[in-house]
Amino acid sequence: MTPEGYKLELPKWYDLHAHFRQGNMMSTLIADHKTMGCAGILAMPNTAPPVAKIEESKDLPYWSLETYHAMLEEAGAGDMETVIVPLYLTKDTTPAMIEAGKKKGLLKAVKYYPPHGTTGADFGRPLSEYIENGVFAAMQEAGVVLCMHGEEHNLASEGYFGRETNAEEYFYMERAPRVLEAYPNLKVVCEHLTTKVGVEFVKQAGVNVTATITPQHLLYTIGDLLQGLKYYLYCLPLLKFEEDRQALRGAVTAVGNAKFFAGTDSAPHTEKMTRCGCAAGCYTGGIAPQLYAQGFEAAGMDLSTDEGLASFEQFLCRVGPAFYDLRIPKECFKLEKTPHILRSRSDGIVQLPLGLSQEEETTLPWSVCST
Ligand code: NCD
Ligand code: ZN
Repeated sequence: MTPEGYKLELPKWYDLHAHFRQGNMMSTLIADHKTMGCAGILAMPNTAPPVAKIEESKDLPYWSLETYHAMLEEAGAGDMETVIVPLYLTKDTTPAMIEAGKKKGLLKAVKYYPPHGTTGADFGRPLSEYIENGVFAAMQEAGVVLCMHGEEHNLASEGYFGRETNAEEYFYMERAPRVLEAYPNLKVVCEHLTTKVGVEFVKQAGVNVTATITPQHLLYTIGDLLQGLKYYLYCLPLLKFEEDRQALRGAVTAVGNAKFFAGTDSAPHTEKMTRCGCAAGCYTGGIAPQLYAQGFEAAGMDLSTDEGLASFEQFLCRVGPAFYDLRIPKECFKLEKTPHILRSRSDGIVQLPLGLSQEEETTLPWSVCST
């Protein structure tokens, strides 16, 4: 274990998968990201309406990349090092759109959502459509990254979450290989991996295939959600089993890791409970590096050792920027192994660990130093 009081100095990092929504909430969410040492963000396009065209035009009922970038800037992201907004793949996405977006310098990535498979995924279409309609071909040609929410949509319940298999495993066994067979040089991020099967898929693929891992999937298993039905732990893909968590922990702490990087999937919901269920998404804004540090320690790393620090810095600060071709910021931030008291707030957003207890406050083992 890292000794109490130990301080890590790290370059500012990029959260390469997060949700900033729309409207009044955006500025709070961006401010939370800044307080945790973020130099830049990849802001997911499952907004209302989704970000699914390149420029403003009257023809399609979506926000454009142009418009959403302007909204993020207005809400406080203007002075960030980088803001990437992936284009949401819908029935209306065309190869011409990909080419135009690339030419204008607006398009770096595209997001695949399984139809109706998670929060804000109602506009998604099956993956096979884009293999066939030229969209993935245009992306490979233009070097545009495919960010994949890797879960099969529309499975019967026993296949969605079964003892033998689940929606993510099905996706990485049956669907994702078809993409790479057709487009072996397409740059792909397997987002928020949760299974050993997913980890193996990424490891055996070429250098063009990488993955993000969230704090919650490093820290918890499905049993944490089920004991007491802790619905603040409900996010998609669902938490899985110990064998899967071990595979994730192994992947992020491996010496020479060049494929697995930080993408929190921080996803605020002011109302988690719905009439007959629960909104999917965990909010980790403001506390993600602290939770990642906790996850590395749970994986057996002492962050005060050279090996521990190197693997943590590689995961949090280096692998993602190398893949997206981003500058490593010169500015640093510090994490300290000192307890931090996290208190519930008045804006209705619940930071994940606070959603796990009846108390109004909880203690994190790590803090971000303000100086
Ligand atoms: C995300 C959200 O709330 O936007 N929810 C989640 O459970 N992860 C959407 C997503 O990334 O799946
Ligand atoms: Zn997400």
